[in-house]
Amino acid sequence: MKKWFAVIGDPISHSKSPDMHNTWFDELEIDATYIPIHVKTEDLNQAVASLKLLGASGWNVTVPHKETIIPMLDKIDPIAEKMGAINTVVRQEDGTLKGYNTDGAGFVHALEEAVGKEHKDQKVLLIGAGGASRGIAFALQQYGYHQISICNRTISKAEAIINELGEGEALSLEQAENRLNEFGIIIQATSLGLSTGEQKLPISLDRLQKETIVADIVYNPLITPFLAEAENKGAKIVTGLGMFVHQGAIAFNYWLGQYPNTEKMMNRLMEQLK
Ligand code: ATR
Repeated sequence: MKKWFAVIGDPISHSKSPDMHNTWFDELEIDATYIPIHVKTEDLNQAVASLKLLGASGWNVTVPHKETIIPMLDKIDPIAEKMGAINTVVRQEDGTLKGYNTDGAGFVHALEEAVGKEHKDQKVLLIGAGGASRGIAFALQQYGYHQISICNRTISKAEAIINELGEGEALSLEQAENRLNEFGIIIQATSLGLSTGEQKLPISLDRLQKETIVADIVYNPLITPFLAEAENKGAKIVTGLGMFVHQGAIAFNYWLGQYPNTEKMMNRLMEQLK
């Protein structure tokens, strides 16, 4: 029987996930389809019950449901539980629903695809302390990065994540700017740089060293003002597109037991974003 998958969120019409997953189904000759479903906050409970009743094999969850859906699921993956958010639901063989978070791991897969796995002993600076940053922090730790500094405008939020990690340090934005040369990997994980939002940089890059790896979680625009400035200063940049593609690939693998072609997908989406 044909399998079906979905992404639920509000808004949802802009999502590139349906095109991505349907392309992978075609490439791998899997008899399945993936549809976007607009779900408002007040309808989430009913939507989850409906997806279950109507036999969805799994679905992605995006803003604003990543946290609120948790109590509606039967089981949560331990790392996702620590992150306090999920983006992927898998209907298991017995019909129960299990939640995973593939955003953070997606970021690390994308980073390592771009620059290799040999940077785990470097100092990492994570800028921002919202949901995205929290997911990346736990994933970095899980993948063996243990020197993590988090800086944020509101430092107490960075301290809270560091406390939960049990290692690393919280910094003010100013401290991070002054000590920028210490870090081998710098990750922009605030909402700044989105084409719809403010275009200023979260921190100054004056002290950026050449060859530093600088990544952004924003992929629209592909080259954010932060990445443009970093590239000007001789950094090796990693766009946010890889995180998006790999979070999808990891979800796909949970659902179907196959890791789809991420490189081809990156090229396809890059064309669309141009
Ligand atoms: P997400 O879940 O996408 O990470 P979020 O939880 O709203 O989104 O977090 C947004 C992040 O961007 C936060 O780290 C926020 O800093 P504060 O915690 O101090 O609010 C950061 N951010 C947003 N606008 C900012 C700005 N103008 N300058 C610096 N940081 C900003």
